[in-house]
Amino acid sequence: MADAKYIEIQVLRYRPEQEAEPVWQSYRVPYTDDMSVLQGLQHIKDDIDGSLSFRWSCRMAICGSCGMMINGKPHLSCQTFLRDLLPGPVRVEALAHFPIERDLVVSVQPFVDKLEGIKPYLIPKEPRTLAEGEYRQTPAQLALYEQFSACINCMLCYAACPQYGLDPDFTGPGAIALLHRYNADSRDGGRDERMAILNAEEGVWTCTAVGYCSEVCPKHVDPAHAVNQNKVNSAKDYFLRFLSPKGASR
Ligand code: FES
Repeated sequence: MADAKYIEIQVLRYRPEQEAEPVWQSYRVPYTDDMSVLQGLQHIKDDIDGSLSFRWSCRMAICGSCGMMINGKPHLSCQTFLRDLLPGPVRVEALAHFPIERDLVVSVQPFVDKLEGIKPYLIPKEPRTLAEGEYRQTPAQLALYEQFSACINCMLCYAACPQYGLDPDFTGPGAIALLHRYNADSRDGGRDERMAILNAEEGVWTCTAVGYCSEVCPKHVDPAHAVNQNKVNSAKDYFLRFLSPKGASR
């Protein structure tokens, strides 16, 4: 590769068996204009240092597993190109606000716990037999939640959220966007169960409306919009509670 172009990639390494604290390690990587940061890391792993750990799967911004901090901002590494980061160095770290397991691999458990908590599935309003046929929705009903169903669970919004950084109990942007996806679905009957999560101390009111979650979202889900809509829903619930002993209903 005599004529190859090179870029420096600095990686924050953490190997718990040999380091008490994460340390920076620098690699000189040959690149071409069509190479992503993920491909740069794969070159390091394949040809320079096989001990480097990171997650990836689809390489096309679908699976959500390659999220990391690139030059201090949350990005999908498969969607971020080295040519856009010239002349380097490119600094790569594990996703912020999550415990590091090794190198660029973080524990996803805190997010998975929140995801399970919001019941991310349709809860039928009443029992329905197969003979009754499919549920039908109008385009307008679909439009109410379609945008929020594009979430790929990449957790970039959590890495961007200063409130989640301060308070890991905060339900957070991604889980609230998915919660809204189901609450806004005309086929769903689980709204009351999910509203209890939004109304709780660690629900929507912990958000301080920074909006960076929506800026970094690679799928334009706009979690900040979901949070804002649910601040309105939560306020409605609060006032309607005084009018009806059962609280607000859709
Ligand atoms: Fe799947 Fe990047 S590898 S989103």
